[in-house]
Amino acid sequence: MQPETDRAAARALLAFWRSAGVDMDVAEAVYAAAPATAPAPARAQAPQRAREAPAAPLVPKPARRVAPAPAADEDARRLAKAADSVAALRAAVEGFNGCALKATARNTVFSDGVESAPVLLIGEAPGKEEDQQGKPFVGRSGQLLDRMLAQIGLSRQTNILISNTIYWRPPGNRDPTPGEIMACLPFAERLVELMQPKLLILNGKSAAHTMLERTDGVLKLRGRKLRYERGGQSINAMVMLHPAYLLRQPQQKRLAWADLLAADAWLNDLGVTRAPS
Ligand code: URA
Repeated sequence: MQPETDRAAARALLAFWRSAGVDMDVAEAVYAAAPATAPAPARAQAPQRAREAPAAPLVPKPARRVAPAPAADEDARRLAKAADSVAALRAAVEGFNGCALKATARNTVFSDGVESAPVLLIGEAPGKEEDQQGKPFVGRSGQLLDRMLAQIGLSRQTNILISNTIYWRPPGNRDPTPGEIMACLPFAERLVELMQPKLLILNGKSAAHTMLERTDGVLKLRGRKLRYERGGQSINAMVMLHPAYLLRQPQQKRLAWADLLAADAWLNDLGVTRAPS
């Protein structure tokens, strides 16, 4: 097949898969990033036997690859350290090319809310809606999260900043790899350092394990008064169940309610005043 015919066939196949209900975002992003013209010379010079070999996959590899830096976490650490405000940190994350997830994401998803807030919430990684809008927790689980936070007087408009440990959507919402987590971690750590929140809320297992450097189950960690310790800083931290988990296991909402009450009491003790919900 000629390159143009390949492209038409690929387009038709993507349309077919989408109509069959497959989540095609990643494939289409990869396809859209492919060069307008295929590397024809290599094909034209290929021997007859090669032309008879099984057809190449219809979805070409992305042209725009974010090369994993040799020491991505070192690069991230250097960029994060140089950022002297949350706004500068956001710009640093946007300019960082050491996490391969950036290649397939539509947007960088850094944070939403008040940058000087007394409460910082860190979740795991953006999903489809977050990737589309460039904001964390705006899909179904984010809407549940907003309703839960409102119960204890927290809102993105007034007193909380919401972020994640990963700033680009993993394809198909798969779990981030340890390498991806490590590449992004210096930014999350710097965010805590810059904000010095009175309370750090960690949403779900991945955020809890990454930020607290612990491996206990989330059901064991949740709702307790914990501490986030890094380089001499010691920050109040509490783990909560992830809203996506609560959507899958609604019977666990009673645990989430208990955790909200515990966070509310702790915020009162810490003098974090909030408008009544
Ligand atoms: N889940 C997360 O952990 N973060 C988001 O931003 C969205 C869903």
